Amino acid sequence: MLKRIVLGVIAALAVAIVGFGVFAWRPAIVKIDPPAPSAFAPELIARGEVLAGAGYCTTCHTTKGGQPFAGGYPMKTGFGTIYSTNITPDAKTGIGAWSEAAFRRAMHQGVARNGKHLFPAFPYDHFTKLSDADVSALYAYMMTRPAVDAPAKPNGVPFPLNIRALQTGWKLLFFHPGRFEPDKAKSPEWNRGAYLAQGVSHCGACHTPRNALGAEKRDEALAGAPIDNWIAPPLTAANPSPAPWDQAELVAYLRTGVSRYHGVAAGPMAPVVHDGLIKLPDADIQALAVYLADIDGAADRTATLGPALQKAAAADRLNVGSQTLPAARLYTAACASCHYNGGGQPNPLRPDLALNSAVNLDDPTNLIRVVLYGVGAKDGAPGVVMPSFNRFSDADVSALAAYLRATRTDKPAWPNLDKTVAAIRAQGK
Ligand code: HEC
Ligand code: HEC
Ligand code: HEC
Repeated sequence: MLKRIVLGVIAALAVAIVGFGVFAWRPAIVKIDPPAPSAFAPELIARGEVLAGAGYCTTCHTTKGGQPFAGGYPMKTGFGTIYSTNITPDAKTGIGAWSEAAFRRAMHQGVARNGKHLFPAFPYDHFTKLSDADVSALYAYMMTRPAVDAPAKPNGVPFPLNIRALQTGWKLLFFHPGRFEPDKAKSPEWNRGAYLAQGVSHCGACHTPRNALGAEKRDEALAGAPIDNWIAPPLTAANPSPAPWDQAELVAYLRTGVSRYHGVAAGPMAPVVHDGLIKLPDADIQALAVYLADIDGAADRTATLGPALQKAAAADRLNVGSQTLPAARLYTAACASCHYNGGGQPNPLRPDLALNSAVNLDDPTNLIRVVLYGVGAKDGAPGVVMPSFNRFSDADVSALAAYLRATRTDKPAWPNLDKTVAAIRAQGK
């Protein structure tokens, strides 16, 4: 009897494994000879260039100082390091032998030409929303880039997670393939913004929290999340800035990297703005802002702007004249000369810290990173630099952060600041 049950279980398992194998299996798509660049219309290539910017393909597919799109850029995930691949039209090491159908399947379904499942570090869970026409434009752009001979780097994903067929399970649970569906109740501009944000520009890949298996939590879209040792703040009504992120400030920030009422795009947000969104026409930036200002409920918060500016100006006046508290002295000596606004409109090139998310978030990471490592000339407002205070002791940085939190916000103190500063220093820049 027992033997029969065991045999039955084994048989059932075998059927399940075979069934899973059949389910997970995707055919290879036959190789082609790389198409001649002249096969693509210049207008199509130009549209593809805009979309490649909007999708930050260069940022993830290029190493520091490496050839554009040749891959090898390391992405640290909770499951090991995954390297991006060569997406230049090199026939041997790139995607030169990929037909448009193979490219489309990769973008829409996360399956490589040879039939292997791709890891979601490649944000195909967003690219699946791209229209067929936009995928064609991206294909035209990629196939007309200079081909680079650059073999893929082996991934640092441990067994069994490196079994690509297992990605089918992940897809079954978390992947929702399908093109973008416009919301008919909203304006065409809103829908254009939603199409870009949810699709090619994948804002949620950084701003949406992920579950234990690394999938974005759909019911917490854009609710803020840790990414690459930074915090991507919430883009919902839960955004902690005392001034609302309205359409005008979103346009300014996404277009130039600076919002006078908030701060600058530093860390992983800097390449999003300066290498990616820069390719988008103003109308698309405007559409993104229309969509996001609706999501964060800016209209309900406009009345908070005036009081927030007054409070910020009052906090700045704390650091005029001589100080007794050591942290206040440190701030007056090290920071106030640049960050003082003295009432009226804040100077956009020197963020007002009372209004800045780094000081208002529940997590002090962004503030500590900016103080320890500064903001380079390429990030934030181009050509402007926030100096690094790396030589300050952990205790000094921690005291400064606690002081700013206490005097610039009415939010609870950050716990364990000393430890957090030490940990962020250990991570390095
Ligand atoms: C967030 C980082 C990231 C961004 C942004 C990104 N990619 Fe990738 N991409 C990857 C990674 C990582 C892989 C490798 C995945 C794997 O090995 O399973 C990859 C793989 C691919 C592949 C499959 C190539 C192959 O050889 O299997 C294609 C095609 C591709 N990306 C195209 C693009 C295009 C086009 C864009 C811009 C619209 C883009 N990617 C943006 C990270 C990214
Ligand atoms: C690669 C990760 C990444 C992607 C992709 C990304 N962001 Fe960000 N974003 C961040 C990080 C990190 C910050 C914090 C930067 C800082 O403090 O200077 C940020 C900050 C912001 C802020 C400022 C929030 C505040 O309260 O200060 C806005 C607005 C924003 N992002 C919008 C977007 C939009 C819109 C998109 C998509 C078009 C997007 N982001 C895509 C990582 C990302
Ligand atoms: C020499 C002038 C200068 C000094 C001194 C200075 N800052 Fe800055 N700070 C800047 C500038 C300029 C920016 C904007 C950087 C950019 O756009 O590239 C900035 C940006 C910031 C930001 C915003 C980052 C963001 O993502 O929005 C914070 C927070 C900050 N500084 C905190 C401090 C603190 C704390 C001190 C003192 C330890 C300090 N700064 C000292 C000039 C300065």
